[in-house]
Amino acid sequence: MKKNELILAIETSCDETAVAIVENGTKILANAVASQIESHKRFGGVVPEIASRHHVEQITLVIEEAMKEAAVTWQDIDAIAVTEGPGLVGALLIGVNAAKALAFAHDLPLINVHHIAGHIYANRLVEELAFPLVALVVSGGHTELIFMQEHGSYEVIGETRDDAAGEAYDKVARTLDLPYPGGPHIDRLAHQGGVTIDFPRAWLEPESYDFSFSGLKSAVINTLHNAKQRGEELKAEDVAASFQASVIDVLVEKTARAAEQYEANQVLVAGGVAANKGLRTALEKKFTQLERKLIIPPLSLCTDNAAMIAAAASIAYKKGRRADMALNGRPSLTLM
Ligand code: KG4
Ligand code: ZN
Repeated sequence: MKKNELILAIETSCDETAVAIVENGTKILANAVASQIESHKRFGGVVPEIASRHHVEQITLVIEEAMKEAAVTWQDIDAIAVTEGPGLVGALLIGVNAAKALAFAHDLPLINVHHIAGHIYANRLVEELAFPLVALVVSGGHTELIFMQEHGSYEVIGETRDDAAGEAYDKVARTLDLPYPGGPHIDRLAHQGGVTIDFPRAWLEPESYDFSFSGLKSAVINTLHNAKQRGEELKAEDVAASFQASVIDVLVEKTARAAEQYEANQVLVAGGVAANKGLRTALEKKFTQLERKLIIPPLSLCTDNAAMIAAAASIAYKKGRRADMALNGRPSLTLM
């Protein structure tokens, strides 16, 4: 009998150096993540040059950690997967070169993975995917609604026209003097405050599944600025709650409309903002009402990790899709 398929995956597109080993695309044997958040915090955001340096320092250690955690040898590994893009070019290159070196040294197939495909496939580590499905991807760099008819087929039906949801969270957090990344802090404050300010909701054209968050972000900044000039004290908790309500309304409503129109068997949520408690609760409520299956991965699989890259790579591996030694990091890679 053939032994189980083991894929070692590497993810270095932003500020996490991550290596995972996953069995049959669904079972996590190791999921090691070295976060750089502390190093970027004092700059209020990810500094690309610093990210690359950290990846170089960490990558071999994290690979060793994952191999040890999974208790496997190189003979057990069937393929090496890596995030090809999108992301920071200098950061991507560290992962891609590490993956190529491992594939060459151990004579293993190399599989390139799109970062967003990875985020979507984080859901496969929770439950086997059932098609057709609609996925809401909300992270620091992306806000997209994606329709999938089958494995590996992605139709972007909506995307942000300006800021990503996570980006809006981080910018509003900075205005409120909260540390980077601001998303979790706004989430926490929102639960201590009330929706006292009616911030705008960008519905765009009635049929559109696109998003826009820059108007909301400006509205929050202007409201804070005007209150300050008038000498009024706005409670940060109320600002956070009002901002979060506006983001969640639009995300939930558009996802629900897409799920209905595309008759989705499953609705998947992915990306760092999927860790948001308010969003999770609102989505659960909505899809219980609509009687549609909703999957939201645990927090550790929502933020950047390599297990999700291995889960996506497993499908490509079975289809025989391989990358060669010309593989490069592609910062603006589109999802196809
Ligand atoms: O997917 P991710 O780890 O990295 C990217 O690929 O961008 O997402 C990071 C983003 C950050 O903007 C962070 O503020 C946001 O996810 N985030 C949250 C929460 N946890 C992380 N946003 C809102 N609420 C949260 N609880
Ligand atoms: Zn991500």
